Amino acid sequence: MSTIQMHHAKLWFAGINGNWQLADFEINEIKESIEDIEKFCPERPEIKSLASYLPSGIDSINYAIGKQDIKVFKDEFLFLTSSCNNCHKANGYGINVVTIPTTSPVSNQDFKPVIKQELMNPVVQMSDSAKK
Ligand code: HEC
Repeated sequence: MSTIQMHHAKLWFAGINGNWQLADFEINEIKESIEDIEKFCPERPEIKSLASYLPSGIDSINYAIGKQDIKVFKDEFLFLTSSCNNCHKANGYGINVVTIPTTSPVSNQDFKPVIKQELMNPVVQMSDSAKK
């Protein structure tokens, strides 16, 4: 779950920076972490509530990524986060309250889309007419 927590936080910073490629990566990491729990810890009691909580949260994030809209993303992220918390409550772990992160979980990652960095340091290309 700590891995999921990290991806949840990174997903937020990817989304609010409009970095849809990274957001897509992070939501897939959440999905994979959950699939690993299903595969390697099938006896864990919370497994049976997975289907009722997480898939709709993941779908809503995928919807926002498809829209590439930061406002929609923020709403859907709230929805995802409540689905995390609802599952915690349903499993007697209501003490684990997940919130919207206020600061990046790491200091060594840039959440802005790479394309923006390239625009700041544009690769100078010769135009076709200049080559002639
Ligand atoms: C299927 C139900 C379920 C879903 C969905 C779920 N969790 Fe959990 N989570 C649990 C259970 C049960 C625990 C306590 C047992 C454990 O830590 O393994 C837990 C524990 C945690 C912890 C505490 C870990 C620690 O050691 O401090 C965090 C943080 C957490 N979850 C984050 C999340 C986030 C973020 C999401 C949503 C993206 C999420 N969880 C979705 C069931 C769920």
